[in-house]
Amino acid sequence: MAKVLPSLILVGPMGSGKSTIGQLLAKKLHRPFVDTDHYIEHKTGADIPWIFDIEGESGFRQRETKALRQLSQNMGQILATGGGVVIREENRHLLKKAGLVIFLHADVDTQWQRTKKDKNRPLLNQDNPKQILQNLYDIRLPLYREVADIEIISQKISTKKMVIEVLEKIRAMGYDC
Ligand code: S3P
Repeated sequence: MAKVLPSLILVGPMGSGKSTIGQLLAKKLHRPFVDTDHYIEHKTGADIPWIFDIEGESGFRQRETKALRQLSQNMGQILATGGGVVIREENRHLLKKAGLVIFLHADVDTQWQRTKKDKNRPLLNQDNPKQILQNLYDIRLPLYREVADIEIISQKISTKKMVIEVLEKIRAMGYDC
């Protein structure tokens, strides 16, 4: 008998398509879509660059863990997370408990193409943002893989095909969707 589909959690670097794929999956599966960054902005009443400016990255990370603690209680949702969510051990534990974790794996060139015009990512608003993406990728790749149940390569295929691939992999694991 097919297993009941738990929450789906999307992890991966900036520009890997977590929000886009998450929203498409939510529509297809008739599930609510939640994004940790939007949730943090809503709770704080300020946007992510402002939080980084005033509280630094450490203040943002505290808010991120708090958001994840709260959001991981919800059942049956599609949850997109920020690219740095995996760096804290507590977060990795929460992610694994919260549902099926899908790692959208984009290479650094793809991340760069998709983020270079966007000024809303404070970690990239410095010299040599492409090198920063590379450094973050090197550190975080094993952490994404540590939490992931499913890994999808996120470049060179359309978002529509990515959604199909996610659903196929979930079905192959015996879930009903
Ligand atoms: C971050 C990624 C961002 C956001 C913040 C920090 C990171 O989210 O959480 O700017 O550390 O990689 P996206 O991955 O949605 O861009």
